Order: sequence, then C-alpha cells, then structure tokens
Amino acid sequence: MAKAKSSFVCQSCGAVSNRWQGKCTSCNEWNSIVEESGAGISSGAPKGLTKGKGRSVELISLDTPPAPHERYKSTIAELDRALGGGFVPGSAILIGGDPGIGKSTLLLQAVGQLAKNGVECVYFSGEESAAQIQMRAVRLDLVGVPLKVATETSVRDILTTLDSEKPPSVVVIDSIQTMYADSVDSAPGTVAQVRTAGHELISYAKRKGVVVILVGHVTKDGQIAGPRVLEHMVDTVLYFEGDRGHQFRILRAVKNRFGGTDEIGVFEMTGQGLMEVSNPSELFLSDRETNEIGSVVFAGIEGSRPVLGEIQALVARSQAANPRRAVVGWDSGRLAMVLAVLDARCGLGLAGCDVYLNIAGGLKVSEPAADLAVAAALISSLYQTKISEHSVVFGEISLSGDVRSVTQIDQRLKEAQKLGFDEAIMPDQKKVSIQNIRPRRIKHLQELVDMFAPLD
Ligand code: TYD
Ligand code: MG
Repeated sequence: MAKAKSSFVCQSCGAVSNRWQGKCTSCNEWNSIVEESGAGISSGAPKGLTKGKGRSVELISLDTPPAPHERYKSTIAELDRALGGGFVPGSAILIGGDPGIGKSTLLLQAVGQLAKNGVECVYFSGEESAAQIQMRAVRLDLVGVPLKVATETSVRDILTTLDSEKPPSVVVIDSIQTMYADSVDSAPGTVAQVRTAGHELISYAKRKGVVVILVGHVTKDGQIAGPRVLEHMVDTVLYFEGDRGHQFRILRAVKNRFGGTDEIGVFEMTGQGLMEVSNPSELFLSDRETNEIGSVVFAGIEGSRPVLGEIQALVARSQAANPRRAVVGWDSGRLAMVLAVLDARCGLGLAGCDVYLNIAGGLKVSEPAADLAVAAALISSLYQTKISEHSVVFGEISLSGDVRSVTQIDQRLKEAQKLGFDEAIMPDQKKVSIQNIRPRRIKHLQELVDMFAPLD
C-alpha cells in the first residue's frame, strides 16, 4: 500500500514545502513548520481531470438583480456598522483578536440580542463548558433568552446537529482553532485542520443561507492564526483590537464583501459586558491633560465617521549612536518620513534625538492626514512650546515639505466644533463652511515650525 504522503506546512503563513526547515522561506518565521499529512503538494506533472462528463451548471444573467438581502440587525449599532448594516444571510464572517480581548463576549451579546428579537441562533463553543457560558450569560443579562448553546469540537457532529433540525439563522463557532475535522489526521489548530473545518462550515453557510461566524485566534504578530486562506474564504473579516490595559475595544472591518472596509465600531468593556460607545472622540479625548507640551489633537476619519484622537510626542537628546524611535498606534515608516522632512526642509536637527510617539487611548491611526498633527506634536515637544488647547490639526505632508489637502474636511471640522474646538491648523484648501472654527491655513511645513518657534 502506498504510504500516506505528508508535507510540511508553515503554521504562520500556510506555505507548504516537502521537507522540514527551521525557518519558513516564505514568511521568515522560525520554528513554524509542522509535518501534516494530507495537506500535500502533489509531485510530478499536474494531472488533468479523469474521464467522464460533469453536470452542466445553470448560467444566470445580471439583468434581473435579486431582491436585496434582508440583513439581521443585532441592534448593537457599533457591530452592525462594522458589518456594513447587519449580518447578511448566507455569509461567513471571521472575527479575530488577541486572547481575552472580548470576542466571545461580543458574539454572545450579539446572538443574545438577535435571539431576543426572534432570530434563531446557535452558539458552539470549543473552549468553554456550557456552565461557563451560562455564567457569562448571567453577567450579560441574557438569562431566559431563547439561545441554543453547545460545547462541541467535532465539525461532523456540529453539521449533523444543525442538519437534524430546521436550520437556524445564525451559527457561532468559537473558535475555529479548536474545531476538528475527522478527515484530516493532524491536530486541531494546524493549517490543514483549520482549512478543512473552515471550508466545511463555510460551505454549510452558503448551502443553507445561514450566517456562520467563526472566531479566530491571532498569532503573536497579530494575524489570524492558521492559514491566510481562511481570510480569503470568508466574506467578512473583522478584527477586535484594543489594549488590555484600556477598557476601549475597537472592532475593525478589514474585508467586507457586503459593505465598506475601515469602518470601526467602538466598545468599552465593563462589568456587564461590552457597552457601545457612540461618540468615540469624546472617549479618546477624555483623559487629555489640556495644554500639555507635545500633545496635539488630530481630526481624523475612520471609515465613514470622524474621530478625534490625541497624539503625544516626546523628543529628547540621545546619547546613543542610534537614537531610539518608538511608535504606538501609528506607522513607524511614516514617522521616519515626517522626521526626515522636518530635518531636511526645516532644519530641525532631529537626527540626534530619541523620538517617542503615542496615539492615546489605544486608537490606531493609518491616515496620511495625521502627518501634520504628528509634526506639530514633535515640534511642540522639541521647542517646549504648545499650541492652543482648542486647536485640531490635520493635513498630509509631502517629501518637499508642502502640506497637501485631505478629504472630508467639513466632517472633521464639524466633529471638532461639536467637541468645543475653535481653531483648525489645516492645509490651504477650499472654503470652509463651518462657522465657529477659525482655519489657520498652512502651505509649507516651515509655517508650522514658525508657529511653535520660541519667541526669544
Ligand atoms: P472573552 O470574551 O472571553 O475574550 P476572548 O473570547 O476574546 O478570549 O473576554 C474575557 C475578558 O473580558 C476577561 O478578561 C474578562 C472580561 N470581561 C469583563 O470585563 N466583563 C464582562 O462582562 C465579561 C463577560 C468579560
Ligand atoms: Mg473566547
């Protein structure tokens, strides 16, 4: 009998090779390669299909669009927003996040609310016992809600259970890494298992028009563990992020076939589960010590709504040959660029300084419009001067030091006005229609530097 062929799969990126190596040549991760049987790469020339006819499939035209999907709304507005307006029947959703961030809590609350509104939901946990889930349900005030819960890790048993009754509308699998498909020999959590179990559950979703929500663990560098292919297979990928030191949690859509990406939902973890935060700007600015040196408020846009955040910088002369640069919540490459432009175009001499940059409250900013706010915070810390505590800053910086225009200015200013700001340091662009905000227009970074320069 032919020996079952095994191959070596990187648990970090899913690359397959036919021998073991200490380091994955595809993603450069060390010690991530595990032998798996059946995950195989076939050897030799690719074989064609075997003889015999298939079945012909029905081809449809796009002339008659189907009726729009009726979405299930969880009534948790922040979650529905991240999903693009609720759960689409027949879709597969993957939600990833660090351990203990609140994925199980969020999903139990979501299906609890859905069940309260008469949507049939089933919650399968491979990590907690039914008693633990019940205890959590007490905390979340979900006692007496018609929600079905089970502890199970076998995909076959889960599908048999679901097939034996009228299909529910929403199924939660917590988590995909604990699921076990018996057709694959390797242990739960390995790439082959995650891929097979994921595939079975996602095809169930498509076949029966059921929403399937998969919880996925993340690796130490923040990606959903197991193969990236899981992200390709599902319709929607959400990341639940936040500092465990803070109560704030941000739900971010990174892929959505039924809505926009970069939409965020903001929550706060409390003793009674996750609470929605409908005005995130207020929350991110709540701990701000006004008039602090090196602190600037950035008026940003997250998805479709404006969010104000505080940017803090600390610039200090360094004794080291290679000064330290540390960033939390922003891109370090972008920081290097802003520093280089400040040095080259405005002669600030930051090369010999340690630079620390932090976006307060656990917010992560990826917009280029934050450039100008970061520059302002850096200059403020370097010169030990400050701008008015009632100013917001935004604008993109080009390599020449010019300040470029950004989009959605009115939305940014409106939010700033709502929170009591009265001045905006911004690019020199179109007329501003917000009345109570005084625009201070900047064409070149040098003008910003002059604004902060000590008076002596
Ligand atoms: P959990 O949902 O189990 O996280 P995950 O599934 O992402 O691993 O969240 C666990 C954390 O949340 C735990 O540290 C306790 C905390 N928590 C609260 O603070 N309040 C609550 O009401 C609940 C249910 C959990
Ligand atoms: Mg959990």
